[in-house]
Amino acid sequence: MSKVLIIGACGQIGTELILKLRSLYGNDNIIASDIKEGNEELMNSGPFETIDATDREAIVKAIEKHQVKEVYLMAAMLSATAEKYPIKGWDLNMDSLLIVLELAKDKYIDKLYWASSMAVFGPTSPKDSTPQATIMEPTTVYGISKLTGEHWCNYYHNRYGVDVRSIRYPGIISWKTLPGGGTTDYAVEIFYEAISSGKYESFLSEETTLPMMYMDDAIKATIGIMNAKAEDIKVRTSYNLSAMSFSPKELAEAIKNIIPEFEISYKPDSRQAIADSWTRSIDDSVARQDWKWQNDFDLNDMVETMIKSLRIKLSKTEAK
Ligand code: SER
Repeated sequence: MSKVLIIGACGQIGTELILKLRSLYGNDNIIASDIKEGNEELMNSGPFETIDATDREAIVKAIEKHQVKEVYLMAAMLSATAEKYPIKGWDLNMDSLLIVLELAKDKYIDKLYWASSMAVFGPTSPKDSTPQATIMEPTTVYGISKLTGEHWCNYYHNRYGVDVRSIRYPGIISWKTLPGGGTTDYAVEIFYEAISSGKYESFLSEETTLPMMYMDDAIKATIGIMNAKAEDIKVRTSYNLSAMSFSPKELAEAIKNIIPEFEISYKPDSRQAIADSWTRSIDDSVARQDWKWQNDFDLNDMVETMIKSLRIKLSKTEAK
């Protein structure tokens, strides 16, 4: 088993990716790294290195120390935060990617995973069933950085033969680690509030439909694309990925089926404009065809699992 380094391991997706990879391939083979420490489960289950994703020397040191052959780059500044700090967002999202692409070109590693996003689409892209290849004119810094990054991945693959694989994640919903600084974060916050106070004020308007996915599906896709045969990965920019689409109103209705007294109100803020620039639903048939991607969770499965898991988590936190 060749060793794997995850950069940005303590974020929303990184945390669960690490735990899944450790359970599949052995704790010692999966090295977590981030600028700050992660949750107890992650820190206690295997190796951890403190690494700033823009520090090439620190990344090389960890690759050499642990004899790493595969890297997953999950560090990024998400859409809402990057609108506040555009140049910082650009620098983090681009510098970190170019460092690992160069390391792959120079054969420090054999394989690279990089997280892209549905934010690569913009107001001129088709809003429904957005195709794999279409008009892409993102208006957010996050979207611009992800679209540019996708083309760097494709360039390094075509020019230097780098085996880089990538997915355009929709909004990811999970209960272990909170997302930070994204426009789809409401779809996670709403569950905490539904359970603890029975009320939630949404920062997106009631009809704002966005593509979303439950975490287990996102992890399944990430590991699935990395395990696929190289010749099956025909798209070397990044693959569309989809599971469900819903608005805050539809999500609130699904929550009310389990928590009938739940109440939602709406107070759109600056994140509304970001959401309005994105598409409503995504066509991921190319991923389904090329590497046999399939989602397991729909809206109701996701809502049921979120409420069940968060109730247990929150009652444990209270008991502490
Ligand atoms: N969840 C991300 C965000 O809202 C989208 O990829 O920024």
